[in-house]
Amino acid sequence: MRLLFLGDIMGRTGRTAVAEQLPGLRKAWQVDFVIANAENAAGGFGVTGAIAHSLFEAGVDCITTGNHAFDQKDDISFFDDEPRMLRPANFPRSNPGRGAGLYFTKDDRRVLVIQLHGQRFMNPMDDMIPALEREMSGMSLGHEADAIVVDVHAEATSEKYVIGHYMDGRVSLVCGSHTHVPTADVQVLPGGTAFQADAGMCGDYDSVIGMEKHAPIENMVSKIKSGRMVPASGEATICGIVVDTDDRTGLSTGAWAVRVGGRLAAAAPPAKG
Ligand code: FE2
Repeated sequence: MRLLFLGDIMGRTGRTAVAEQLPGLRKAWQVDFVIANAENAAGGFGVTGAIAHSLFEAGVDCITTGNHAFDQKDDISFFDDEPRMLRPANFPRSNPGRGAGLYFTKDDRRVLVIQLHGQRFMNPMDDMIPALEREMSGMSLGHEADAIVVDVHAEATSEKYVIGHYMDGRVSLVCGSHTHVPTADVQVLPGGTAFQADAGMCGDYDSVIGMEKHAPIENMVSKIKSGRMVPASGEATICGIVVDTDDRTGLSTGAWAVRVGGRLAAAAPPAKG
């Protein structure tokens, strides 16, 4: 199976790039299942039902979120109604939506996606590992699921590595999101789990992590919060990771960072083996 995980879709430029290009990329790269983090898709803060729907139309199979999941407070009930929407599994149980879902590819292979929220340098949530084990309960790779993906939405690279190694051999991919900067550490860990500390963002990199750059510069220079944070609107780079898995075991046989368009150097996966 070939999986594509897209980093945080940032604002209009990010979601436009994904909507326009994902159908072609899916075909060209022969992708079987697409996960996208879309917690910044609505003006940088949250995601609406209409935006989520447009991403599903473009070929996203599952949307993950994170600390900004519920920023569009007037439009979050769709998290309960739309099983393809995830919010972190270690959020309060009373929150809308769910932290994991079992999905199907077009040819009926099963993909379990689990979302977590980091604990360091972020608003504190429940421990990640008990939430992860709860969602993994009764699900083993190669048996109840043909692929398992964990999105660790976290600030701290160390937390992402802990989850990567903790789950090595039990899931197909552990991928980080949230920092909006792609890391250069894509690898298949010794036990067969693909890993990247952060997938980066689908957004304009002539920015400060996707936001128009002048306000954050001025804030840092003057120490007076003056400018409003708005998403940068230049051409987006679509950033993510492509992972191939062995259909017998669910473990990864290869993983590649991908970057399309915009300012970052292009990178594409090899032809599907
Ligand atoms: Fe985030």
